[in-house]
Amino acid sequence: MVQQIRINQAKDHVDEEVKIGVWLTDKRSSGKISFLQLRDGSAFFQGVVVKNNVSEEVFALAKELHQESSFWVTGVIHQDDRSHFGYEIEVSNLELIGNSEDYPITPKDHGIEFLLDHRHLWLRSKRPFAIMQIRNEMIRATYEFFNKENFIKIDPPILTGSAPEGTTELFHIDYFDQDAYLSQSGQLYMEAGAQAFGRVFSFGPTFRAEKSKTRRHLTEFWMIEPEMAFTHQAESLEVQEKYIAYLVQNVIDNCAYELRLLDRDVELLKKYTKTPYPRISYDQAIEMLQKANFDVKWGDDFGAPEETYISDQFEQPVFVLNYPTKIKPFYMKKDPERDDVYLCADMLAPEGYGEIIGGSERETDYEVLRQRILDAGLDEKDYDWYLDLRKFGSTPHSGFGLGFERAITWICHLDHLREAIPFPRMINRIEP
Ligand code: 4AD
Ligand code: MG
Repeated sequence: MVQQIRINQAKDHVDEEVKIGVWLTDKRSSGKISFLQLRDGSAFFQGVVVKNNVSEEVFALAKELHQESSFWVTGVIHQDDRSHFGYEIEVSNLELIGNSEDYPITPKDHGIEFLLDHRHLWLRSKRPFAIMQIRNEMIRATYEFFNKENFIKIDPPILTGSAPEGTTELFHIDYFDQDAYLSQSGQLYMEAGAQAFGRVFSFGPTFRAEKSKTRRHLTEFWMIEPEMAFTHQAESLEVQEKYIAYLVQNVIDNCAYELRLLDRDVELLKKYTKTPYPRISYDQAIEMLQKANFDVKWGDDFGAPEETYISDQFEQPVFVLNYPTKIKPFYMKKDPERDDVYLCADMLAPEGYGEIIGGSERETDYEVLRQRILDAGLDEKDYDWYLDLRKFGSTPHSGFGLGFERAITWICHLDHLREAIPFPRMINRIEP
């Protein structure tokens, strides 16, 4: 019996006859030979059908196959140094499984809206393939990193009764006879987790009713939110840079083929595996921007052009530390030496990708935190349980949130977050 494999196992089967379930992505034939471009979800490679080596029926079938029909291909694996993948299959047999006619995504160029309307099919193409494989590697590396670093994963709820990041971008839902919201961030629950388990991380979907149509915003995105007890902000920054460098290193090591498909500059990526990353203060960032004639003053938040300018001054991701209190949420701890800034940091990615991480040390004092909740116009009742964490063995603790699609978009060098998630959700798109 011929062994059944997947395309990405070809290197272990050179000169062997194997059988693979595949779809056709493209084909080209001349009188005596057909070149079939094949995919099976693990890689793309070429099948060569030579008229003299196969039956008449098989050769005829090879010529008739339509784009995206599915079939079994049997043949011998050979090295093929001219292709991205490095191997091809010399076909001895083809068995049609599912026909496909008039597949809408042809090898010619299509507009982005057309492709997004056909996302359920577009996922089969090379570029989404490469991005989703890299996304998967980053998921794998995330679990590996935090497990090695002695964190456990706990899962915060998605249905929540309150809103940590401010009340404007919330998705409201009817929860029986009560108001509820889709979670914008699991952070407050992760703080409870940190006091229970010491070091915790979450990895799950979060929701923001972003009305802005930008390349950096989705309404549903995935976040990794680690939270650490007995940990100050400086140590949290070390975990953050170590984690990001680990993600990049693992993508370089394990996704060389996908990076080639995306034409990603790997030399640039290698720079991001070196730590520590530079740190500048918000004050320095303002000064830097003013020198470059940006119209900003102390106290302003940064938009995309400001973030891009700051990150362009560095070859690695950069931390901007200690933002003004009035532009950050209530739960952060103030700098003990200054009343007007928090012990917080955003990590800005290079190459103009902007903020990928937001994090801070957390306020630990019961009374201070209670007053902040009131000052923020929030309902104290909603935060009773959160305030409890400061009543019973409060510890210094810090945490952060990585926007997963932001990180993918940067590592893959994409133009827009919509390509970093299988089925993007944006203000004007909830289908397919
Ligand atoms: O900076 P943010 O709002 O921070 C928090 O939510 C904290 N509670 C995290 C924490 O400390 N545990 O969001 C964190 C990250 C941002 O840096 C950004 O990368 C990403 O989430 N992000 C988005 N990604 C895609 N679409 C959006 N609409 C996003 N909003 C934020
Ligand atoms: Mg932020």
